[in-house]
Amino acid sequence: MKNLSLIAAIGEGGELGYNNNLIWKIREDLQFYKEMTMGKNIIMGRKTLESMPLQALEGRHPIVLTSKPLETCTNLEVFHDLDSLLDYVNDTNKEFMVVGGANVYEELLPYVQVMYLTEIKREAYADTFFPYFNEDDWNITEIGDFLDNDIPYIRNKYVRKRSKMVKWES
Ligand SMILES: NC(=O)c1ccc[n+]([C@@H]2O[C@H](COP(=O)([O-])OP(=O)(O)OC[C@H]3O[C@@H](n4cnc5c(N)ncnc54)[C@H](OP(=O)(O)O)[C@@H]3O)[C@@H](O)[C@H]2O)c1
Repeated sequence: MKNLSLIAAIGEGGELGYNNNLIWKIREDLQFYKEMTMGKNIIMGRKTLESMPLQALEGRHPIVLTSKPLETCTNLEVFHDLDSLLDYVNDTNKEFMVVGGANVYEELLPYVQVMYLTEIKREAYADTFFPYFNEDDWNITEIGDFLDNDIPYIRNKYVRKRSKMVKWES
């Protein structure tokens, strides 16, 4: 889907989170997340919603996947199954960004056109991991090389090669 992208920060082993929290809190990367998501529709799983501070939602239009009834505040949209969400994304020209967590990345990765991955050059204990993907399916451009608080990381932009796009038929 042309209007679906993804943003994540991952360790060398694909580490994403532990105990429903982020592993690394890198100031520059949180700022990048803010710039990339501000004013956008952001798609997340219920667990990521619960893990996020309010300011990570402000100024965005959050869309949450959950199988449960969810008390919604204004501006928060809820979907109870993947197909309805894909229909919704497919039927509009609006831009959407998948912001996690592991479960939702895995389900939506086949439909994502562009990924912004902050790749931290560290391993860590984790209980959630970014899904496997084949780098050969993507054109990769390095968009940054950083050191923050002694943590080295790079940021890559992945654009899916055309022939490998999954076509969503509604
Ligand atoms: N490093 C990063 O960039 C990054 C970014 C985001 C999150 N994280 C981390 O990732 C971890 C959370 O990931 P997670 O995999 O445990 O949870 P998650 O993907 O955030 O949420 C999973 C929940 O989403 C709902 N869901 C997912 N697919 C659904 C579907 N098709 N239909 C209905 N509901 C669906 C279910 O909620 P119900 O149980 O309510 O049905 C499911 O339990 C945390 O540690 C968080 O800090 C890291």
